[in-house]
Amino acid sequence: MGNFADEINKRRTFAIISHPDAGKTTLTEKFLLYGGAINLAGSVKGKATARHAVSDWMEIEKERGISVTSSVLQFEYGGFCINILDTPGHQDFSEDTYRTLMAADSAVMVIDASKGVEAQTRKLFKVCVMRRIPIFTFINKMDRDANDTFELLDEIEKELGIATCPINWPIGSGKSFKGVYERETRCVITYSDTEKGTKEGQATRIGIDDKDMLLSHIGEAFQTQLLDEIDLLDGASAEYDLDRIRAGELTPVFFGSALTNFGVEIFLQHFLKMTTTPLPRKADIGLIDPVENNFSAFVFKIQANMNKAHRDRVAFMRICSGKYDASMEVKHVQGGKVMRLSQPQQIMADERKILSEAYAGDIIGVFDPGIFSIGDTLCMPKEQFQYEGIPTFAPEHFARVRQLDTMKRKQFVKGITQIAQEGAIQIFQEFNTGMEEIIVGVVGVLQFDVLKYRLENEYNVDIRLENLPYEHIRWIENKDIDLDKLTGTSDMKKIKDLKGNPLLLFVNQWSVGMTIERNKGLVLSEFGRN
Ligand code: G4P
Repeated sequence: MGNFADEINKRRTFAIISHPDAGKTTLTEKFLLYGGAINLAGSVKGKATARHAVSDWMEIEKERGISVTSSVLQFEYGGFCINILDTPGHQDFSEDTYRTLMAADSAVMVIDASKGVEAQTRKLFKVCVMRRIPIFTFINKMDRDANDTFELLDEIEKELGIATCPINWPIGSGKSFKGVYERETRCVITYSDTEKGTKEGQATRIGIDDKDMLLSHIGEAFQTQLLDEIDLLDGASAEYDLDRIRAGELTPVFFGSALTNFGVEIFLQHFLKMTTTPLPRKADIGLIDPVENNFSAFVFKIQANMNKAHRDRVAFMRICSGKYDASMEVKHVQGGKVMRLSQPQQIMADERKILSEAYAGDIIGVFDPGIFSIGDTLCMPKEQFQYEGIPTFAPEHFARVRQLDTMKRKQFVKGITQIAQEGAIQIFQEFNTGMEEIIVGVVGVLQFDVLKYRLENEYNVDIRLENLPYEHIRWIENKDIDLDKLTGTSDMKKIKDLKGNPLLLFVNQWSVGMTIERNKGLVLSEFGRN
């Protein structure tokens, strides 16, 4: 084992984000292939879990004993130790998806070259921007007919509001995909379609000035087009600027094909040069440096019922500083207790590995007897500080919950409150009434089914959910607001969270704007605080 600082400095922790089907799973498989963590691509997650329907979701949970939501993968490549945090898409999209981004130091955004920026990418992207985490763009599926490259970049800039800097540039697409031009080395790397499950073939590199060689490989038409595009690009695109990349203001863009394994290693090599070691994190006593400090971590996700028989929960934490070893005692700051973490493990796709040690940058899951909450800090017994809380993300789907058997009021309130504490759902009340009317807000609609299923199975309570038309929720930042005097739109609904904080629900974005306009000084926020 290398020394302690070396171990931390070789870590890179990133989240991978995309709209479903853009190729996130395929790209992750290829990363692992290079790292040698697995030998054959295709075994990260089976198709069944990648593309399940709502109805079989619960079955999957049971079968695997582990949730299909977010897994963590670790592999070594070129002297680096890389942690990939997978962010679930599709219908199992939930607040966890957002929270996962809180545990990463950078994000890799996979975009389908024929589709451009899609809805889910946009949502996740907002969180990256809020946290100012660097974003690396991989434009995938170049082996299929792609949108115009300049248009794709334009779309990213306009839709996501981030400047782009192509690191390489595609030559053709689909059947006539010829490869990419690497701007730094001024070389064309020719496309070769490699067998599934093998590493990239020996790519041919041709200097851009080696005209004859280039002509024979890509043909005259592509050669002329490429030279024109390079001119345009050098004149028009944002300049490569590592500081801006690291500040999340500029995204380096790569082109490739995960399926045929082209451009993946090129991406990895550049990515590793541009990303940072685990970053210092903000705590109430200031920034905590990963190397200078002893062990500390924060909880970013709690997964209930990994094993239903024991109602167990696993708390996922990101180590922010120092080294963790399984024999040591740590302090759970919020609970005020010193303890030994129970069964520390690394969750690898569908297997769990018991850990003996881990370093800043790594993610570990520990058995949670019901004491941890999202955002909690762990540190050494003699220390005392807390990491910044994780924001509450705006749910986009709302429903009124009615309990069918009123005799089970107590179980109902207990169940729904506990599930809300785990962060899978958010609960609210009508502004002027008590707990009898509960409104549930979720980030992804599947969470409604999860709620119903869990209340029935774990708390023996049947409920009926009545969908509400609201899609926008806003926290009110003004402390001195008189809600009765607020003039909103006719569709606006006033609610409160469990702490009594007032919030507003709206059917559309227009109403949000109108309400701000009608109430001078009103400040509304899309993110709440825990
Ligand atoms: P996701 O995790 O982002 O949801 O996407 P995933 O990797 O599962 O890929 C979605 C589909 O796109 C898969 O096809 C996959 O093979 C295909 N794909 C991924 N990368 C590329 C690429 O670079 N080029 C092309 N042409 N296709 C790509 P599928 O038909 O749904 O599954 P399969 O039968 O191929 O396994």
